[in-house]
Amino acid sequence: MDLTMNKKFYQQSIPERLETLKERTGLKPEDLKGFNPNGGLSLESANGMIENVVGLYSLPLGIAQNFFINGREVLVPMAIEEPSVVASASFMAKLAKASGGFEAGMRSQEMIGQLQVLDLADPHQAAAQVLEEKEALLAKAAAFHPNLAKYGGGPRNLEVRVIEDSPIGAFLVVHLIVDVQDAMGANLINSMLEHLASPIEEITGGRVHLRILSNLSDRRLAWARARFALAELAFGDYSGEEVRDGIIEAWAFADCDPYRAATHNKGVMNGIDAVVLACANDWRAVEAGAHAYAARSGRYRSLTQWSKAENGDLLGFIELPMALGIVGGATKLHPTAQASLKLMGVKTVAELGGIAAAVGLAQNLGALRALATEGIQRGHMSLHARQIALTAGAKPEQVDRLAKMLVEEKNIKLTRAQEILAQWNGK
Ligand code: MEV
Repeated sequence: MDLTMNKKFYQQSIPERLETLKERTGLKPEDLKGFNPNGGLSLESANGMIENVVGLYSLPLGIAQNFFINGREVLVPMAIEEPSVVASASFMAKLAKASGGFEAGMRSQEMIGQLQVLDLADPHQAAAQVLEEKEALLAKAAAFHPNLAKYGGGPRNLEVRVIEDSPIGAFLVVHLIVDVQDAMGANLINSMLEHLASPIEEITGGRVHLRILSNLSDRRLAWARARFALAELAFGDYSGEEVRDGIIEAWAFADCDPYRAATHNKGVMNGIDAVVLACANDWRAVEAGAHAYAARSGRYRSLTQWSKAENGDLLGFIELPMALGIVGGATKLHPTAQASLKLMGVKTVAELGGIAAAVGLAQNLGALRALATEGIQRGHMSLHARQIALTAGAKPEQVDRLAKMLVEEKNIKLTRAQEILAQWNGK
């Protein structure tokens, strides 16, 4: 018998939710064992991953609902400690689904590696010399990692830039562009760069100083777009037009003011980081890329765009660097990451990047919709009250009742929660 019948996902117990995931995806218990508290990263694996390990660090893992991306339902795992993020993403995805959901993807998987060439008499002449040897240098880089070509990847181009106005005088920067396919690519590109250092010194007569990838992965852009009908946007006393225009006004603030843009983009990254973390990917790389990209015009701006469609609907778009990997590294070692990829049915990095971008767009809409109407605190209140109840030491069966009481009293404070619990527990 289906015990979860008629219960919404958020109303189910944790075992019921896991059951629902299996029913909805056809996955087997072993596919999802990474979501089990005892099936995550082992201490032995952790000890092999970093230095001086003393234990493991946990975060809540929630599943965002209602994401319909490129015509397919996607259950999105999100690892995050902040209340409301998963609920808000799920709710905004539901609004998008009514108009066909999200379109999302990635344009290419080209990573950029940088070589800094110093001690050159004429950096411009050195740049021309490097370009003359471009094909030979690319062949050297390719020979270092022949397997990459089998998967359709490999070095694609060499580009040169002379930095004129630096505190140490002019120098040359060589960019190696590599299609890394489904790998994150950091190790791959860094080792290719090491192999190009001596040939470039020989060609230019200079000294290769730094050899390292760039996290401004602007040739690995993920994007997502969605349409929101006015009927979906309307709620309470707010008309769809009011909500739409309020969202566009809020976006314009972020797009023009770095102080607001930082907070706006933080909200976008609430969603993206949570997906990236659930897949054990390098969220710092994604963060660095996102913020550098947001400042690409010389002014730090919004990562999203909101506008009015011809028929009056609200249109949302997001684009940002997304250097992710689904082969090798922590993704392969971490059972929760493996379960996350299986749950999403992700086969390529392009799919994963598109999903993360869609979640970022939904997250941004959730924040703007709340900020532009009733304010952010109202929606946060009940989850915040639950956290306070837990911190005050409420037993599992007391949490909901205590949280409800705190909200009703409009007094969500730890001291009040402790007072109520003391009464209940007869202390
Ligand atoms: C909070 O984590 C994120 C928000 O501040 C984002 C925003 O202001 O757009 C709500």
